[in-house]
Amino acid sequence: MRSLIDIPDFSVAELDELIACANDIIRNPDAYRDACRGKKLATMFFEPSTRTRLSFEAAMLELGGSVIGFSDPETSSAAKGESVADTARVVSCYADIIAMRHPREGAPYVASQSATIPVINAGDGGHAHPTQTLGDLLTIHREKGRLDHLTVGFCGDLKYGRTVHSLIAALSRYEGIKIVLISPEELKLPDYVKLDVLEKCSMPYTETASLEEAMPGLDILYMTRIQRERFTDPEEYERLKDSYILTQKKMELAKADMSVMHPLPRVNEISVKVDSDPRACYFRQAKNGKFMRMALILKLLEEAKINPEREKPEGELLVNEIQCRNPRCISACEQELDHVFKVTDQAGGVCRCLYCESKEMIQERKN
Ligand code: CP
Repeated sequence: MRSLIDIPDFSVAELDELIACANDIIRNPDAYRDACRGKKLATMFFEPSTRTRLSFEAAMLELGGSVIGFSDPETSSAAKGESVADTARVVSCYADIIAMRHPREGAPYVASQSATIPVINAGDGGHAHPTQTLGDLLTIHREKGRLDHLTVGFCGDLKYGRTVHSLIAALSRYEGIKIVLISPEELKLPDYVKLDVLEKCSMPYTETASLEEAMPGLDILYMTRIQRERFTDPEEYERLKDSYILTQKKMELAKADMSVMHPLPRVNEISVKVDSDPRACYFRQAKNGKFMRMALILKLLEEAKINPEREKPEGELLVNEIQCRNPRCISACEQELDHVFKVTDQAGGVCRCLYCESKEMIQERKN
């Protein structure tokens, strides 16, 4: 049984297969109207959402299935202290597949290890948002006709922006991608993404604080919101919140066919006047997310039929030998959850938390 926790869970061939399936759904929606008849999707949303939750629900309904779930954790037994593992195990008794959003990094992974049905990560803290990335890949494919040989600029909150981390990881698997990182100093892309994705794949990238400077060279501009909810210091948020605002005037600096993407919601980082520019594709992007979620639900339900066994982590694991220091990690609060690190680079002495992927050195292990 497969779950989707992060984009590397799928091969490039599988990503291409999902894109092909989503394009087929767009062309022939009637052929899929009964594909999930009798199946139930459970949406477990411990954080606010408009697009992800509603597009998952629309996706399942358009496949002929039905939907149960909650969108406010205060109305679930999580408010009484129920663990993520227990909640997922119980929801498995009522549904065939789970889409879960949680503020704790690694929570969907924990759910996937206790559920008896596939679990889809619908966003976990600042860690990953793989179904947004699936919709982003379909959008790039439909807007540009390809996923390779593109210069992609990411602008705004590159530090906490889980959509940015997931999309960079996905693009790193295609040929000829150049990345331009546009952010204030305080919101630069974390080193672990730079080292483990960009540098590991020898992906060319540049960093700048100037959107105007970067704009003329871009095929795609991926704008992001400065996320108030990720800041511990409200003053820092106030100082940074208006760092970048894309206006019609700035759009004059861009190529005639540059695509503007945004995972949405936006606050004020794209002027509403840009919406009527044909290069603005963020509302098409939101719609594409639904088609990719349809393709994903079909794939995971099909795979669960063939192999109902839960996938286990591979490789060398360190159990309760190192404590994760990420305060946003699910291991910081989930009942009796083992602290598990996976050795990712034995020679370099590097391991990563199995839940949130925070990096530690093996030498930190307790004797
Ligand atoms: N892009 C995205 O995840 O939007 P929501 O938070 O509204 O789901």
